[in-house]
Amino acid sequence: MNIVVTGGAGFIGSHLTIRLVRAGHHVRVIDNFSTGQERFLDAVRGAPNLEVVRCDILDLPSLTNAMDGAEFVYHLAANADVRFGLQHPRKDLDHNTIGTFHVLEAMRQVGARHIVFSSTGSIYGEPSIHPTPEDAPFPIQTSLYGASKLAGEGLIEAYCEGFGFQSWIFRFVSILGEHYSHGHVFDFYRKLRANPHELEVLGDGHQKKSYLYVHDCLDAIELAVQKAQEKVNIFNLGTDEYCEVNDSVRWICEALGVRPVLRYTGGPRGWIGDSPFIYLDTRRIRALGWHPTLSIREAVLRTLRYLEANPWLLEARA
Ligand SMILES: NC(=O)c1ccc[n+]([C@@H]2O[C@H](COP(=O)([O-])OP(=O)(O)OC[C@H]3O[C@@H](n4cnc5c(N)ncnc54)[C@H](O)[C@@H]3O)[C@@H](O)[C@H]2O)c1
Repeated sequence: MNIVVTGGAGFIGSHLTIRLVRAGHHVRVIDNFSTGQERFLDAVRGAPNLEVVRCDILDLPSLTNAMDGAEFVYHLAANADVRFGLQHPRKDLDHNTIGTFHVLEAMRQVGARHIVFSSTGSIYGEPSIHPTPEDAPFPIQTSLYGASKLAGEGLIEAYCEGFGFQSWIFRFVSILGEHYSHGHVFDFYRKLRANPHELEVLGDGHQKKSYLYVHDCLDAIELAVQKAQEKVNIFNLGTDEYCEVNDSVRWICEALGVRPVLRYTGGPRGWIGDSPFIYLDTRRIRALGWHPTLSIREAVLRTLRYLEANPWLLEARA
């Protein structure tokens, strides 16, 4: 199949690309390399069934050209950093909402009708139900990132209704694993490398978070695309556990053999828009036969090992 992966040079997208190339599909990565890394695709470099197109999804004519021949689109390109939305209020709207609209329009132009979308548990804001199911009462948005992704979901659903598209929308918790290049493990590791004697922790450390290993995430997506055949298919993806930020700090410090003084910025949230409790109900995806293979602790430690072995990435994302 001719498959386009937007954001295919990013953390999650690169693993997806490698899988699809190895499965024999013709894969075209569309990426502006703002956070994506050429090296993430080393495992399939030179493969005859891989094309990498440097293109910004905000450039609709170029995107439409790059989409030519596509039958199936995995749309992962986005501003994936939840934390800095208030510093540049247009960024999430541009890359996550208008970018998604452009992807849908380009698909419509070239006749592609199947889309997978990487949404987020952040769309639930601060939910009152834990674990939070896909049909939780309509969430109130607390971050520009969540709002921009929920708007993206809405556009996709409307294209399904209006133009005969089929979609698979995945609301992930935070993802961990190889190629990980942003998020709390990255931040803690970078800070501890610079100063192993002191660590700043955003919030009070008691935020409860769920995480998922990247290959467990991609296994779930692959299974859902095979088995779920509604017009719009929405799945939460996460583990059936959560930890406190303090747990993660402890695992990381123990693994690195450091005992820093912890300096908390205080409060139940690490930043405005940070949800103090993220824990998703994953019964819907589990009913298809999926289950995660790594615990949160195992995924944190695997991520840490990857970062230790790849210091270039700290430079690249400085
Ligand atoms: N990592 C997580 O914990 C997590 C959790 C929930 C949802 N997601 C979503 O999953 C997707 C992938 O996230 P990731 O963690 O791999 O992030 P990432 O930043 O590593 O990947 C995003 C990719 O998109 C590319 N990109 C960004 N803006 C673009 C644009 N305008 N045009 C073309 N390419 C562009 C980047 O260069 C990068 O390769 C994102 O949509 C993100 O919102 C991620």
